[in-house]
Amino acid sequence: MKRILVTGGAGFIGSNFTRYMLQKYPDYEVVVYDKLTYAGNLDNLRDLANNPRYAFVQGDIADAESVDSVMQGHRIDTIVNFAAETHVDRSLLEPGSFIMTDVYGTYILLEAAKKYGVERYHQVSTDEVYGAVEEGASCETDPLETRSPYSASKAGGDLMVHAYYVSFGVPATITRGANNIGPYQYPEKVVPLFVTNAIDNLPLPVYGDGLQVRDYQYVLDHCEGIDVVLHRGVPGEIYNLGTGGGMRNIDMAHMILDLLDRPYSLIQHVQDRPGHDRRYCLNCAKVMALGWKPRHTCPEALEKTVRWYVENEWWWRKIKSGERWQTYYARNYAGRERRS
Ligand code: NAD
Ligand code: DAU
Repeated sequence: MKRILVTGGAGFIGSNFTRYMLQKYPDYEVVVYDKLTYAGNLDNLRDLANNPRYAFVQGDIADAESVDSVMQGHRIDTIVNFAAETHVDRSLLEPGSFIMTDVYGTYILLEAAKKYGVERYHQVSTDEVYGAVEEGASCETDPLETRSPYSASKAGGDLMVHAYYVSFGVPATITRGANNIGPYQYPEKVVPLFVTNAIDNLPLPVYGDGLQVRDYQYVLDHCEGIDVVLHRGVPGEIYNLGTGGGMRNIDMAHMILDLLDRPYSLIQHVQDRPGHDRRYCLNCAKVMALGWKPRHTCPEALEKTVRWYVENEWWWRKIKSGERWQTYYARNYAGRERRS
């Protein structure tokens, strides 16, 4: 395992993973392959540009010819697939691209993994495939109960990965992670959205009653977990990755406002997300048996994340001042204010 293709590596988690792997393994080479959608951003990898063990190739995982060319050109022996359409709200507005990338794109990568006989294909998936768990925690053997076009597409990708392991012997593993937070997360996701809005004294749009629970884990804990599964995980297996804890959205909003010394009156309850899953929680005993454990609790992850956005305005102001961002924000939030 020496030449790793990190698909979606210009996004939030993929860029953190790329940096983490280059630092941890001095003999590894990482090729980031990314379409550079609205969520892909070369600023996320800016500090790596001159690293001789890093290369960037722009391309679509659903483009078989382009994938083939990068596999051959860089003699790739490992694929870690982060590339996906990832935002639930956007999947409600435009589901087509989710199916194209998260399902069909995964199939194209699996075909390449089969053709080139990679040492490992790793699929980065999500706790959302289990659907909401009102009580207790989801195990890897639980049934998939997807409720949004995003989670349905991710589940489709997972099932295809399993099919390629069973039918063709592709040595594939899957991790299903809880909500990540940390540096370089596109500000459509709730934590960077609330932090950057609060810095600017703008409203924090809390969906519905804000009592939904998410397990906000620190992105580098997730990256470490993927690394452990890549090196110690068993092909054909699925591993959950999260803190096992969780936080209500309203409490997360309060904590952000406290950390930034802003008033709670910035909180604005808005119309709920359709099909909003109430709670996610993962049982992570299986990956812990491989020697992984999270280094941060949700509040610790949140505190570190808030600090990063305070110290890195250069990164998010560029995004939020752009027309593309403003069009999306208006489309998702306009007219959503609750009357009662
Ligand atoms: P992100 O939206 O920040 O980044 C996605 C990246 O994929 C972008 O760089 C984008 O340009 C690229 N991309 C999109 N379509 C592509 C295509 N067709 N071909 C090549 N590149 C393409 O996403 P993220 O939050 O970093 O998530 C990464 C992965 O982790 C996803 O698979 C997601 O489902 C999964 N995941 C995310 C979280 C989370 O909380 N963010 C939690 C668990 C799992
Ligand atoms: O659980 C893992 C998943 O976490 C990943 O697979 C997804 O890629 C990632 O986007 C994330 O999905 P969520 O829907 O949980 O994340 P999001 O940041 O969009 O929302 C988190 C919670 O905050 C959720 O309960 C909805 C709520 N929310 C979100 C936004 C954007 C708000 O209350 N207001 C908002 O403006």
